[in-house]
Order: sequence, then C-alpha cells, then structure tokens
Amino acid sequence: MTEKIRLDKYLVEMGLGSRSQIKEAAKKGRIQVNEEVETKTERKIDPQEDRVLFDSRRISYIKTEYYMLNKPCGVVSATRDNLHSTVLDLLEDRNRSDLFPVGRLDIDTEGLLLITNDGALAHRLLSPKHHVDKVYQAVIEGRLPQDAIQQFWHGITLTDGTITLPAVLTVLEVKETASPQTTVLLTIQEGKFHQVKRMFEALDCQVLYLKRKSMGCLLLDETLAPGEYRTLREDEILQLQQLT
Ligand code: URA
Repeated sequence: MTEKIRLDKYLVEMGLGSRSQIKEAAKKGRIQVNEEVETKTERKIDPQEDRVLFDSRRISYIKTEYYMLNKPCGVVSATRDNLHSTVLDLLEDRNRSDLFPVGRLDIDTEGLLLITNDGALAHRLLSPKHHVDKVYQAVIEGRLPQDAIQQFWHGITLTDGTITLPAVLTVLEVKETASPQTTVLLTIQEGKFHQVKRMFEALDCQVLYLKRKSMGCLLLDETLAPGEYRTLREDEILQLQQLT
C-alpha cells in the first residue's frame, strides 16, 4: 500500500504554490481529484491511485528527484539569492519545490553539482565521517613547488591554522609560456569553505580556474556543457545510495 499524503502537501511539494495559495485555488474550484472538484485541501491522496488535476493539468506525485548539473560560472549554489541566479533557476523542468544543491561550489567554480530533495543521501555524501572523494581540476597560475605532491599528501596547514586531511595531487600539464600555468587534478575528502583555493594559497599559488569532476562514484557527464543538466540514471542513484 502506498503512503497517503494530504492534497495541499502534495501540491505544495509539486511546486504549485504555498499551502495558502493551494487553499485559495481549491476554493475557486481549480483542483480536481478523480474527475471531481475537490475543495477540501486536507483530503488524503493515494499518489498511486488518485488522479489529481490542477487547472485541468494532471499533476503526478514524484517523491524524489536527482539532477546532475554542470554548474556554470556566475550562478550561486543556493536555493535563493537576492543578487544572482541560483543553480535551481537553471532546472527549468523540475517538479519538486524542495530541491537543494548537495554541497556548495563557489560562484566562479564550474562542474558537478548534484541537486535533489533526498536529505539522507545528501547527508551521506557531505558528512566528513564518510570520507567521500571529491575530484577537482584546477588551473594554477605559475608553477607549483617541487614537493607539492608530498605537501598535499601530508596535509596542508591553511592560513587559519587548520590542517587538511591527506589529498592526492596529480599534475596534468605545465604550460611553459611567458605566464606559465599548471593544470592539476586534486582529490580531497573534505568540504571546507573555499578549500581547494585555500590549499593552493597556503603554497603561495593562485587558482585561476576550478571545476569539480566527481563526487564519490558520481562522475560529471562531460557531454553536459556548463549550465546543462540531466536527471540521474537509476544505476547512478543506486550506486550513490550504496555509499556507506
Ligand atoms: N574548493 C574551492 O575552493 N571552491 C569550490 O568551489 C570548491 C572547492
């Protein structure tokens, strides 16, 4: 048997408005359940059996949603913001009203961002206890110190004195031009505020570009251009849920 849910909660969660707006709409006869106008928003709905229409449009109940976004530069990883567009503004065809980004990327960071309303999954991915690997690609101004790989592995002391957990640095490319640049991959298991930028800062290096490539078993789909997104596949959801 499926769990029943109040009509107003059902419609609020599916993004049709606030509870009071739904109540108003019901009073005006805009809501139908099983082909009959329903004015009582406290009525219990069986999402599998009952047919809910809002302004004659069928509204199906979707319990959890999972989106992979290639976050572009210039949007904030928040659910609302007074100044900037948010990552949620990019999800044009989302259903649920309670989606949130799992962790934050800086406004100028690109790459993998999971957006969901699955709080338990988000907790598992973000909790420091679970040591989930996050892989970033970074372009650094200039060259890195000779012993950078060892320094990252032994833990970096940030300017505020915090010592980071071991991190794995791989140098991908060193451009030996008039203004040299180094491209690296960095794997960290923490998610401190501006962590990657602060780790490089501690070595007197500046991050020019930063992109998240993966989070645990979830890899950025590189066919997504910055700003594009897709729903997660079943196998991706299952793998994430198996993280212990
Ligand atoms: N580390 C940073 O410095 N910025 C990010 O956006 C993510 C990790």
